[in-house]
Amino acid sequence: MQTVVTDSPEVAAGFINRAGIVAFPTETVYGLGADVFRPEAVARIFTAKGRPSDNPLIVHVQSPDHIGEVATGLTGRAAELVEQFFPGPLTIVLKKRDSVPDIVSAGLPTVGVRCPAHPMAAAFLRHCDHPVAAPSANVSGRPSSTDWKSVYHDLGGRIDCLLRGTPSTIGLESTIVDCSVYPPLLLRSGAIGLESLLEVVPELVVATTCKPGEAPKSPGMKYRHYSPEASIILVESPPETLDPVPPSAWIGLSEPPRGAAKSMQCHTAEEYARVLFGFFRTCDAEGIHTIWCELPPEKGIGRAIRDRLHKASGG
Ligand code: TXA
Ligand code: MG
Repeated sequence: MQTVVTDSPEVAAGFINRAGIVAFPTETVYGLGADVFRPEAVARIFTAKGRPSDNPLIVHVQSPDHIGEVATGLTGRAAELVEQFFPGPLTIVLKKRDSVPDIVSAGLPTVGVRCPAHPMAAAFLRHCDHPVAAPSANVSGRPSSTDWKSVYHDLGGRIDCLLRGTPSTIGLESTIVDCSVYPPLLLRSGAIGLESLLEVVPELVVATTCKPGEAPKSPGMKYRHYSPEASIILVESPPETLDPVPPSAWIGLSEPPRGAAKSMQCHTAEEYARVLFGFFRTCDAEGIHTIWCELPPEKGIGRAIRDRLHKASGG
């Protein structure tokens, strides 16, 4: 299959409206979308990514006014979260409308809904006839794509169209809050930090990662994620020196240790989030064997970075 690469949101939306699958930029990471009401198109997303069929997709809407097309129960805390954080890097889980095919929600009675703030994503969604179901645009298990070249590397030839935008400014996937239960549950950390969420939802509960054999609160929790080929070592602070053979890389807020074949010192947690997945991908392309990652302080987006680093290292 030939993948059409375009800069036009309208051209990209045309593929969605004709039952195609299209990768598009958002401020968090790139998504791989299909018309939410076309189950055969949605099925192609799972095939293209190699995604397990029990992991549900997030539905993207062009504005909060369209949430009612796919979900019910936008009252109370859910409405307050939408008022405060939409459009932006937040997904809320609500009761699903029957019209949303089961393949989108992986059979769950709920659906995750997000309204991206990225101008190109907004223009694209406005040209689509219906909301767009989309997971991150990467091969399942690999780091999410934060620029169009990473999308093309993973999915070129397997998708109909790639809407070429600028690199994602946040670099980590959206914060997910389940509002279909009370008290609401933080399912995934993201750029909207726990501190900001608690200002709107003081009773918010943080979901713990599930133990083996236990049903996960969010199906995505049970899978290995975000992983480069290289092995990952997590540290709270840099060691004196890294073993230069086999080649090791360093990423963190502190100065790189001696012996790093490749390194990235980030000046803020926001910068760390933005560059992390791209750094993983470059390390793989350059044959790095081990990536040493410094865990940032657990505040703001630091909590999300720590979560992704733990998942990437298999923990
Ligand atoms: O920033 C993002 O959220 C990006 C962009 C493209 O919007 N999307 C994204 O999608 O990260 P994905 O599929 O990689 O992650 C979606 C996560 C999965 O862990 C999934 O299990 C969870 O959302 N999820 C989706 N629907 C859910 C539901 N109804 N209940 C609980 N968890 C849900
Ligand atoms: Mg993903």
